[in-house]
Amino acid sequence: MSGKQYFCDELNNVLSCFHDRIMSCCSGQIGPVYYEAYRGQKINWDEFKAVKQKAFDMLTEENIENSPCKGCYFLRERKPTDVISPTFKTINISHWTQCNCGCIYCARMLDSKGKITYKSQKSEYYDMVPLLKQLYKQKLLDKENLYACIQGGDISVLKEFEPMVKEFLKNGVHRFYILSNNIVYQPIIKKLIDKDMVDYTTSLDCGTPELYYKLKRVDKFKESVENLKKYASGKNPDCIAVKYIVIEHINDNIEEATKFINLMESIGIRKIEFMIDNKYVMFTNLEEKPLPKHYGGLYLHFKQLCKEKGIKMQVWDKAEYIIKKYALNL
Ligand SMILES: C[S@@+](CC[C@H](N)C(=O)[O-])C[C@H]1O[C@@H](n2cnc3c(N)ncnc32)[C@H](O)[C@@H]1O
Ligand code: SF4
Ligand code: SF4
Repeated sequence: MSGKQYFCDELNNVLSCFHDRIMSCCSGQIGPVYYEAYRGQKINWDEFKAVKQKAFDMLTEENIENSPCKGCYFLRERKPTDVISPTFKTINISHWTQCNCGCIYCARMLDSKGKITYKSQKSEYYDMVPLLKQLYKQKLLDKENLYACIQGGDISVLKEFEPMVKEFLKNGVHRFYILSNNIVYQPIIKKLIDKDMVDYTTSLDCGTPELYYKLKRVDKFKESVENLKKYASGKNPDCIAVKYIVIEHINDNIEEATKFINLMESIGIRKIEFMIDNKYVMFTNLEEKPLPKHYGGLYLHFKQLCKEKGIKMQVWDKAEYIIKKYALNL
């Protein structure tokens, strides 16, 4: 074959099960799709397995124009050592949208028109456990190295949450990544933390009940903090990360940030994630609508205070790049 060939590690290793489709990656709206509008139908596995190979066939200089990966940040030049894997090493699960919280910044709110779900229930779209059984049977999941990422919606109101975790444990999994608003305590998460088998992340985004209500439209600050304390007690608090997503005019000030960091210190959280609203990271042309300049100071304040308190601060590469470029002029 002549001309350049491209490769994507996400395409090779990741399977993402969203409520509206099963696809390659969670890069957004683009990327190869394994099954459109999946609703629990019988899957033709030969066709399913062929999607990856076909997608790689499009990653050549002559075909890239027509590839669903065209223009993606993750594409790189293919090396002779790159081999297409028959299995996936990461599975992203977001096959439901129900949530018992109403974060004002969440894109889910657009889909669900602000609906808050209080009772635990099935996904409105499809069940994951039967699909997992088939994926294992088809040898599509790399049991030894599998990273099982469960997102949502929120697990607090998903009946299938614990059965899914048990299905992974029964069939082979390396580690879990679980996101939750933390409003409902999950004993199985505590067990995974105690075994050091999970990266558990929650977005608290504030240090007071008043601000929590403004951000999340439910009065559950106390429950959320109590559950964090329970998870952090024991020998593996490093399995837990708590996010602070900066939302303009609400928690974008040093006073609130300080309250949050002090609270994290007092309940034994050792890892926080500093994040800015996706609206700025993904959907705004920052050359036209600038990032608020004071985000730079807030970022530096977080860094300094976390350092003083011995708390690890994580920042997503792209968010850090944006802050440095547009708020700190670095
Ligand atoms: C849609 S949520 C689902 C999981 C779970 N309900 C939770 O909130 O952790 C997935 C992740 O996206 C984050 N998120 C949602 N909206 C965001 C936004 N506008 N900017 C940055 N992160 C956002 C959430 O904080 C969460 O960590
Ligand atoms: S190149 Fe981009 S869009 Fe294509 S599979 Fe990789 S991450 Fe997804
Ligand atoms: S808890 Fe998660 S899914 Fe629910 S509204 Fe907040 S960010 Fe969205």
